[in-house]
Amino acid sequence: MAISNFQPFLLLVLFSFSVWSSTANPVDYERNFIQCFSSHSVNSNSSVEVILAKNRSSYQSVLQASIKNPRFLNTSLPKPNLIVTPSYVYHIQAAILCSKKHSLQIRIRSGGHDYEGLSYVSNVPFIIIDLVKLRSISIDIKDESAWVESGATVGEFYYAIAKKSKIHGFPAGSCPTVGVGGHFSGGGFGTIFRRYGLAVDNIIDAHVVNVNGQILNRYLMGEDLFWAIKGGGGSSFGVIVSWKVKLVRVPPIVTVFDISKTLEQGATKVFQKWQTIADKFDQNLFLHAVMGVSSPSKNSGNKTVVVEFTALFLGAADNVMTLIQNNFKELGLQRNNCREMSWIQSVLYFASYNINAPLEVLLDRNQTLQSFKAKSDYVKVPIPETGLEGLWKLLVEEKSSLLIMTPYGGKMNEISESKTPFPHRRGSIYGIQYLVYWDSNEDSREAEKHINWMRRLYAYMEAYVSKSPRAAYLNYRDLDLGVNNADTSFAQAKIWGLKYFKHNFKRLVKVKSVVDPGNFFRNEQSIPLLPSHGRKGYKHVRRHE
Ligand SMILES: Cc1cc2nc3c(=O)[nH]c(=O)nc-3n(C[C@H](O)[C@H](O)[C@H](O)COP(=O)(O)OP(=O)(O)OC[C@H]3O[C@@H](n4cnc5c(N)ncnc54)[C@H](O)[C@@H]3O)c2cc1C
Ligand SMILES: *[C@@H]1O[C@H](CO)[C@@H](O)[C@H](O)[C@H]1NC(C)=O
Ligand SMILES: *[C@@H]1O[C@H](CO)[C@@H](O)[C@H](O)[C@H]1NC(C)=O
Ligand SMILES: *[C@@H]1O[C@H](CO)[C@@H](O)[C@H](O)[C@H]1NC(C)=O
Ligand SMILES: *[C@@H]1O[C@H](CO)[C@@H](O)[C@H](O)[C@H]1NC(C)=O
Ligand SMILES: *[C@@H]1O[C@H](CO)[C@@H](O)[C@H](O)[C@H]1NC(C)=O
Repeated sequence: MAISNFQPFLLLVLFSFSVWSSTANPVDYERNFIQCFSSHSVNSNSSVEVILAKNRSSYQSVLQASIKNPRFLNTSLPKPNLIVTPSYVYHIQAAILCSKKHSLQIRIRSGGHDYEGLSYVSNVPFIIIDLVKLRSISIDIKDESAWVESGATVGEFYYAIAKKSKIHGFPAGSCPTVGVGGHFSGGGFGTIFRRYGLAVDNIIDAHVVNVNGQILNRYLMGEDLFWAIKGGGGSSFGVIVSWKVKLVRVPPIVTVFDISKTLEQGATKVFQKWQTIADKFDQNLFLHAVMGVSSPSKNSGNKTVVVEFTALFLGAADNVMTLIQNNFKELGLQRNNCREMSWIQSVLYFASYNINAPLEVLLDRNQTLQSFKAKSDYVKVPIPETGLEGLWKLLVEEKSSLLIMTPYGGKMNEISESKTPFPHRRGSIYGIQYLVYWDSNEDSREAEKHINWMRRLYAYMEAYVSKSPRAAYLNYRDLDLGVNNADTSFAQAKIWGLKYFKHNFKRLVKVKSVVDPGNFFRNEQSIPLLPSHGRKGYKHVRRHE
């Protein structure tokens, strides 16, 4: 897909930023937007096909189809005035220019997995640009590269690769429904990242529509913006239409295994050993630890903590047996725990499918999740046994929680912190994702209880995780970070900015100030403008809040 193939969009009319008057009737500016959009479209029908107003029957189903955290299905939450579902890039260009002209904020949605719902909820009049129709994937095996449109899911991408080659793959996340638009722009790690790095470490070009409605490729956007969208979050900078990535070569046979230990079976000691070696293993071995609480029925009435050690090894079972026997015999791995399979079957495995299921299951975008709240941390020094004991006590208080400990090291150690905005490289033994989930039918008071438990757990863990800053992963977005009286000042943004990006935050702010000086692309955690630059932008944000 070359830039020249995109339908040209006439930029003859440049709009001044008109101030939205709060007395406008919603229907008026919806109508204005639709008129503006039609006037910019080559095909006069396209506004009907592309724009969904609330009075359209498909508005609800399109809105809900990509809400992946049912917490944000709540009917009392603000809904978009319009949903724009572009079929061509010029629809994105028109949507940006017309929402700017008519002072509607935009939310950009690819897979809809944002942990805080920022891709589809806003407190000001807004439209969603939903990229669900822009999901073509073109794979060039000879060149070992691919163009992937943002609305594609990682499952669709893995499927497309597997259809073309048994020895190519791509290092990104495990959940097949995650969208590449949000996932790649926030970093993107998965089961083979210790060998190949993050998704962003394998991006070689991108197409972005900027605040002026221009389509930019890597050359046109320049290396600063290209750097920023590889981990700084896309939504602060523009709409990413597509990515060009380098495929990686995977071996024809890989091995997985999965071993669980309860506290009674010595989970504490095994986990302690894991902490000292997980990041030092051969980079072909990914061995993560998932902590949870076993349901009483499985354990004759008493709850206990279970730690599940699950591995993907890029090679044969015999080799990983030797590796574990030499370095981690406490795990008690047996040859019959190991299953050899193809890389794409390991994708099914980590997505909790049967490895013999048809690969088409990876194309199912409809999987529903439970309501959840999550947080993240990075561990630089193994947690001592006393720390773990306290953690076990907290875990058994909450029945549906999970802690996913992801080992770093390997290739991640070889890439400097400033190479991409994603800064969690050398020095991180492992990352933690804390998850608590609940039935979506539970009312908000029940939900608050789960969320409060999560906050207590996070407070408890402070002593054992990275400090100054206490780091966090952008793709596990957490609006609790740095919250202070709804203060939207630069100092406030810096608190979460340093956690997600460390020193890269500064460069992200500079890039933002250059490419979007009016702060059009904004949300509760978008990159702010430089303070000198920013006064106006912030006032504008605050007026709506
Ligand atoms: C079940 C589940 C499993 C996950 N597993 C992993 C994992 O294994 N590894 C991992 O690294 N992460 C994982 N994540 C986190 C995931 O990477 C992030 O939630 C990611 O941001 C989702 O991208 P999305 O396109 O689906 O979400 P969206 O909600 O569509 O977007 C997320 C953010 O990116 C912005 N955005 C989306 N598309 C674009 C675009 N085209 N241009 C500009 N901005 C855009 C949105 O505005 C929003 O701010 C998982 C999440 C879930 C819910
Ligand atoms: C539907 O809503 C849009 C936007 O508010 C409006 O312009 C249009 O006239 C409405 N159509 C009908 C049939 O009511
Ligand atoms: C517009 O839509 C109508 C009805 O679907 C169709 O008959 C007509 O050809 C379309 N016009 C264009 C320019 O595509
Ligand atoms: C469950 O816990 C109780 C109280 O601690 C203990 O007496 C009992 O033996 C435990 N049961 C099992 C099966 O471990
Ligand atoms: C997913 O949902 C859509 C819309 O409801 C439906 O058209 C599609 O067939 C579903 N796909 C699968 C695989 O269930
Ligand atoms: C939806 O939000 C309202 C208002 O905040 C709240 O009272 C209600 O309990 C929520 N519903 C659910 C299912 O969370």
